[in-house]
Amino acid sequence: QMDIYQSGDEAAKLLPISFEEWENRAKKILAAAPFGYVYGAAGAGNTHRANVDAFQKYRLRPRVCCDVSKLDLSISIFGTKFPVPFLLAPIGVNTILHSDGELAPAKAAAKLGVPYILSNVSSVPMEQVAETMQDGVRWFQMYPPKDHDLTKSFLKRAEASGFTAIVVTVDSTLLGWRETDLRNAYLPFLTGQGMGNYFTDPVFCSKLKEAPDKNVKEAALKALEEGNNTCFTWKELDFIREHTRLPVLIKGITHPDDAILALEHGVDGIIVSNHGGRQLDGAVATLDSLPSICEAIQGKIPIILDSGIRRGADILKAIALGASAVLIGRPYAYALAVAGETGVEEVIRHLVAETELQLAISGRSSIQEVDQSLIIKVK
Ligand code: FNR
Repeated sequence: QMDIYQSGDEAAKLLPISFEEWENRAKKILAAAPFGYVYGAAGAGNTHRANVDAFQKYRLRPRVCCDVSKLDLSISIFGTKFPVPFLLAPIGVNTILHSDGELAPAKAAAKLGVPYILSNVSSVPMEQVAETMQDGVRWFQMYPPKDHDLTKSFLKRAEASGFTAIVVTVDSTLLGWRETDLRNAYLPFLTGQGMGNYFTDPVFCSKLKEAPDKNVKEAALKALEEGNNTCFTWKELDFIREHTRLPVLIKGITHPDDAILALEHGVDGIIVSNHGGRQLDGAVATLDSLPSICEAIQGKIPIILDSGIRRGADILKAIALGASAVLIGRPYAYALAVAGETGVEEVIRHLVAETELQLAISGRSSIQEVDQSLIIKVK
């Protein structure tokens, strides 16, 4: 923060600071279709807007005259201590944003000690991402394939590459109605982008008539068909649970009854998410769902929230309402488009600095001290 103030005239040359600036810069840099892919949401965009607006229903109510000379943003999940209360969300097909693809956010996250969740539909295969992250904490997100052998293969590869948790995304068995992408007739996977994990998978490739590079579109369609797993039920989740020794989180829960079922089916963590409003338009905002899910889970497993997190205040509000941590989505995607690895680093640094300041000015010295007493509902 002081670096920025002291840089004076140099400040004009700095990278964006606010979410809105990153978004505007990304819009200028990217072609309309890839920008629309990130910005866009399902249907009328009502869920997307509701996610962001939900944070304004709460206000922080600071305490004063508290000793905040030492600050601790750390949290602990599955027995591992993380320096800050956020992780990078799985965002697929990063080569539409930057030529380094997923290597850029992976490196930025590893450098700053923030866990990175690699998307199933990453352009870069998981083994390469793992190598570039060295000891950096990484989780692997999976759109559960129809084929159990492919599921087992993904799980085995993730374990062998040092991923320490599996995130099963369950809100996307079918692609949402995304009007911007429909208008642009844009589905980047069909050119082979986002296929890094599929096209290098021996089980997947053994099912193709010819190698993926011989007929990219055909192979990509086959991969998408695997992910359109409309038969996925709790029983299928049991299969995943039985075939990995890693903690399993379920991503895309907004109903407390599903949270209870997830617990009964042995998941280790819940991610309250609606995919950033990209799937079910008109759906409930994640922050609005959070209290009922925390009530149902009673602290038995960690609950992480995403969709709509833009600033430090949002992070504190989600934690005050019962989340253990949050995921950062679009903010780092825009930064990746604007400045690659440096951009993602910048977004992480700003969020850390802002959250730390917010915590201190709220009169709290650690994330452990953030509870419902920090917020008041105003709408
Ligand atoms: C996503 N998201 C996502 N989720 C997932 O489980 N696997 C994936 O491959 C992707 N891909 C993806 C691409 C793009 C461009 C976006 C914007 C989002 C959803 C993501 O993990 C997260 O849930 C949302 O980004 C959170 O919403 P906000 O904060 O971005 O609004």
